[in-house]
Amino acid sequence: MQTILVANPKGGSGKTTLATNVAGWLAGKRQRVALTDIDPQQSSAQWLARRPRLFPAIGTVGRDGESELRRLDPLWQVVDSAAGIHGDDLKQALKGADVLLVPVSASAFDIAATQRFLAIVAETKAVKKGRLAIGLVAMRVDARTHSAAELDVFLGGCAFPRVAQLRDAQIYVHCARDGASVFDLPRSRAEHDWEQWRPLTRWLARQAPRVERPA
Ligand SMILES: Nc1ncnc2c1ncn2[C@@H]1O[C@H](COP(=O)(O)OP(=O)(O)OP(=O)(O)O)[C@@H](O)[C@H]1O
Ligand SMILES: [Mg+2]
Repeated sequence: MQTILVANPKGGSGKTTLATNVAGWLAGKRQRVALTDIDPQQSSAQWLARRPRLFPAIGTVGRDGESELRRLDPLWQVVDSAAGIHGDDLKQALKGADVLLVPVSASAFDIAATQRFLAIVAETKAVKKGRLAIGLVAMRVDARTHSAAELDVFLGGCAFPRVAQLRDAQIYVHCARDGASVFDLPRSRAEHDWEQWRPLTRWLARQAPRVERPA
C-alpha cells in the first residue's frame, strides 16, 4: 500500500481539496483507495459521506484505523491531516507516509508557514534517508495576480518539486459540496482542470512503481 499524506499546518491551505481529489482520481482509475481523515474537523469524512453511490468507490478508515485498513486492503491510502499539525502527531503521520503532498496557497502568510513546515520536514529521518517523496501543489492560483507571481518565485526556490498548479475556480467549491472530485465530472465541465492535474497524477504514479499503474 502506498500512503499519500496531505499536510500543511497552515489552515485553509487546500489540504482537504487536494486529498479528496487525489482519492477521486485514484478511484476513477479503478484503484482500491481509502481516505483517512486524521483532522478532528472531519471535512474529508463528511465529503465522503456526501459522495453519491454511483461514483467510483472510496473506502473510509475511521478511528479503528489499523483493522479497517486490513479489511479494505487498499492499494492506496490518502490521509487528510489537520491544520496546526506538529510534534509527535506530525512525526507519526510522516513515518507512515510514502508520499507527502503539500498544498500552498498564494499569500505571504501561506508562503511563510509553508517555508517553516518544509524546514521541519526536511530534518525528519524519512526525508534524510530519501524514503519520503515530497511534492508541492500551488493551490487556488489566479495567474493574473502579484501573489501568484510571488508564489512562483517561492516554489522555484524550494528544494522540493512543484508537481501541479491548480486554478482558483468554483468547480472545487462545488465538488466539496457534492462529494465529488473533478474527475467525477463530465469532460465538458472539467477538461481544463484535468489538464492541470496531469503533472501531479503522473508524478504520483511514478512514486509507486510496485503498484499497478493508474495510467
Ligand atoms: N482551487 C481552488 N479554487 C477555489 N476554491 C478552493 C480551491 N482549493 C480550495 N478551495 C476552497 O478553499 C477553502 C479551503 O480549502 P480546504 O478546506 O481544502 O483547506 P484545508 O487546508 O483542508 O483547510 P483546514 O486547514 O481547515 O483543514 C475551501 O472552501 C475550499 O473549497
Ligand atoms: Mg481540511
